[in-house]
Order: sequence, then C-alpha cells, then structure tokens
Amino acid sequence: MSRFDRRDFLIAAAAALAVPRLWARPAFSGDPFALGIASGAPLPDGVALWTRLAPDPLNADALPPAAIEVRWEIARDEAFRDIVRHGTTLAEPRFAHSVHVEADGLEPARWYWYRFMAGEAVSPVGRTRTAPAANSPVDRLRFAFASCQQYEQGFYAAHRHMAAEDLDLVVFLGDYIYESSWGSRHVRKHEGPEPYTLAQYRNRYACYKSDPDLQRCHAAFPWLVTWDDHEVDNDYANDRSEDLDPFFLARRAAAYQAYWEHMPLRRSAMPDGPHMRLHGRHDFGRLARFHVLDGRQYRDHQACPRYGRGGSNVIGDAACPERLLPQRSLLGAAQERWLREGLAADGARWNILAQPLLMAQLQRQPAPERRFWSDGWDGYPAARTRLLQAIAERKPANPVVIGGDVHFHCVADLKADFDNARSPVVATEFCGTSISSQSQPQARLDALRAANPHIRLIDGEKRGYVTLELTEGRCLAQLHVLGSEKRADSPIATLAAFVVEDGRPGAQTT
Ligand SMILES: [Fe+2]
Repeated sequence: MSRFDRRDFLIAAAAALAVPRLWARPAFSGDPFALGIASGAPLPDGVALWTRLAPDPLNADALPPAAIEVRWEIARDEAFRDIVRHGTTLAEPRFAHSVHVEADGLEPARWYWYRFMAGEAVSPVGRTRTAPAANSPVDRLRFAFASCQQYEQGFYAAHRHMAAEDLDLVVFLGDYIYESSWGSRHVRKHEGPEPYTLAQYRNRYACYKSDPDLQRCHAAFPWLVTWDDHEVDNDYANDRSEDLDPFFLARRAAAYQAYWEHMPLRRSAMPDGPHMRLHGRHDFGRLARFHVLDGRQYRDHQACPRYGRGGSNVIGDAACPERLLPQRSLLGAAQERWLREGLAADGARWNILAQPLLMAQLQRQPAPERRFWSDGWDGYPAARTRLLQAIAERKPANPVVIGGDVHFHCVADLKADFDNARSPVVATEFCGTSISSQSQPQARLDALRAANPHIRLIDGEKRGYVTLELTEGRCLAQLHVLGSEKRADSPIATLAAFVVEDGRPGAQTT
C-alpha cells in the first residue's frame, strides 16, 4: 500500500461491504498484461474473454488491494475499425485482478478480435471465433487438443506450432500446471516450492502463463479446458490426496480458485469453496458436440493404494478385488447420468468426449497375473464398461474419445469388453502425447502391445499435440511431434495420420 498514493483510491464508505475500493487512476509499475489474454467457451452468439492484471507477475503486492477498471473491445477486424461490442468490468483483488468477460450479441461462426485496456495500458490483441449457429450445417471443424505441460521439462514449442495451425479451437485436457518439480534434464525452473496456498497457486499460474508461446496459442484461438490432477496435486481423487493430507479440501479450494482465475471460463464455472462445475457440453452446429468431462472432482478413491498412502498403484485382481467393484465411479454418479443423457442418437454428427485420461484398457502385465495402473480408467473398469455400454445402446453418432495424462500418443479401439476379441468396437480413442512432460522408454511401451491388441498405435518418443479435422463424412486425426521439447525453436513433424469414417468406429490408417 505504501507504494501507492492513497488519494488515488475512491473509498466507497457505506457501500464498502459489497463494493471493493477502486484504484481510479491506475499507473502500473510494468505491463499489466504480462500474462497475456485468452478466450474460451464459445457459443454461437458469444465467447468468454480473459485476462489478469499482473504488472509484476510473481509479486502480488505490485497491485494495491483495490479493484481496477478494465475496458474491453471486440471487433470484426484486427485493426478495431469495426467494434461490435465493448464494455467495462472490474478486476478485483479477491480474484487476483483477473478479468472474465462474457462478450455476447456476436454472430455465429466468425472470427473476432478482442483487447483490454487498463489505465494507459493496452493489451495484446487476441483472435477468437464463435461457434456455428445451433443445428446449422457446418462443413468443417478443425481443432487441436493437448495436455501435460510440465514447465521445467521443456519449452512450449508445441504451442507455437499449434498457434500457427489452421484451427477453430484448442481443447486442453489437463495438467496445465504441475504442482511439483520432478523429472530430468530441466530447461528452466518453477518460480518456487510446491504450492499449497492460493497465493502460491497464483504464482504457479503466473510462472506458466509468462511463457510467450503459451500466450500465443491462447491469443490465436478460443479454448475449451478441463483439468487433471496436477492442477491441484499428483494423483488426487475427490477429497483424498496422495499423502492423505487432512486439510486437502482447503488446498483443493485454493487450487480450484487459482484455476478459475487463470482460465477463459464463464461465470457459471466460478468455484464455491472446494467445488467447481467444470464439465459441460459445447455444440458446433450439427457437426460436433463436445462433452467436456471432469475426471478428478467426483471420483471414488483409487483402489488399493500403497500402505499408508493415497494415490495410484499398479495392482492385480487377486490382491485387489476392490478395483472391480461395480459401484466404483470415475465421473461420479451425477456426472455419469448427465453424460449418458447427452449421448443422444439424434445429436451431432461427431460426439467428442474430451476428458483427461487414457480410456482404453492397458494391461501393464498380461494374464494370468494381469496388473493395471489404478489412477486412470483402468482403476474404474465398471464405470468404463457402463459408459461404453451406454454408447453402444444410445448410439450417439461417431463417438470419439480424446485424452491425455499418459504422455504418449495412443490410438485405440474402445470396446465394452476389452478381453473379448469379438466384442464390437463402439468408439474411437485418440490420446495425445504431452506438450513437454517426459514419457517412459519406448521399449516399455512396445512391450505392452501384445497384451493390448485393441491399441493401434502407442508412441511416447516425442512431445506434441493432436489435430482433428471433422467433416460430415470423416474425422482426420494427425499426430504431431516436436523434434525436441528441450529447444524453444524446435520444428514439428507429423508422426502419423488416421481417419475415422462416418458410421464406422475405429481409426483407419491413411
Ligand atoms: Fe501429465
């Protein structure tokens, strides 16, 4: 406070209970838009716009504990000659001076450009795109999906290449930040120790979001987002952390709030203590429906953790019959019901299940002593069977599951019974490699192929992302890989391409 002239504050006397003090004529010590701008959750008539004022990103005291007025504009052209909507909002200290604007009154299926202003400062310009009109025909939708961007293990060249792609949308599937420092051959370091408090999580996001390539990818397209474990803590499940922290829900509340503060989300996602509604459906005309799922908040605890611990384990059926219990759920009962109801046969041409994990069964050790990793869908096989049976029965058109978490590219046939060679393929899975997080030796992945014949491709050599191009007749998937995540200027290449034909689940090689 001492750094600021108190005369600059308009202190609303009686209304102070509800209205934050206003820093009426802000003068910033640095660029207040140093964390960039973003957009997301596109609708046919609007989009969510985001920024956070942070003139000194790792120093929360660089701004006074007062609200700051932020102006925003959205235009039909990059030069802002044709501004179609503008307004003013408050960046409030209780949300780390983040800004969430819902620009509406826009036209469907078109590009817009947006920017923010605070004091004398003007933000970079972002480009975004509205969704096509409800039930309208759409010729093509092309999007990228990505996950797992441990900051220390690599640069974000993948984001720079994504930003240069011809896309309508980016879907991010979790591990946007990592709470812990781990892995080998670091190229840079986190800003501080593992976060537990809101202030620490805010600084972790500030560290990640300072990356220019990540900012570039946000500025290029609207994003849809979900989270995985590392936005809070490795391997957490619902209210249980891997180290059985008795105060874990307080930590989760801090992490969820920091996530909300740093993502281009709508107000409907604003957290309430340790609860936050993240799952939702997003339609793109008649062509595509995204079912964005939350795989962490509502799940049952992992079965059979190591003694005295929470979190994941590699477990066999003899030692751990609990894994197979029919009532175990990964999405939670309410989200399972919501998802089932959304999987209608008369919906979109393509049903994209956007979720953080690998869905296909992956036996880590073959029969007779089969073993599974308990943190992914393999830890919840009854829930997976329920979902795939619901798909088989309700017959949503062309279900395609996209995921992350495992840090390798994986293409799989999804079946209600993976152990029965004659069980029909009911959905197609594309699981993407990581943006920067390290994988395991390829020889170990290759060794999994024999016991998992429904896996069509498994490749963890390289980091990257996946693009899907949807048309009425087919889905073209391209698996992109960096030369090296250890170089910010790394080139990109296409590892493989697959096609899913309308009405025919399962990826075909092109
Ligand atoms: Fe990850």
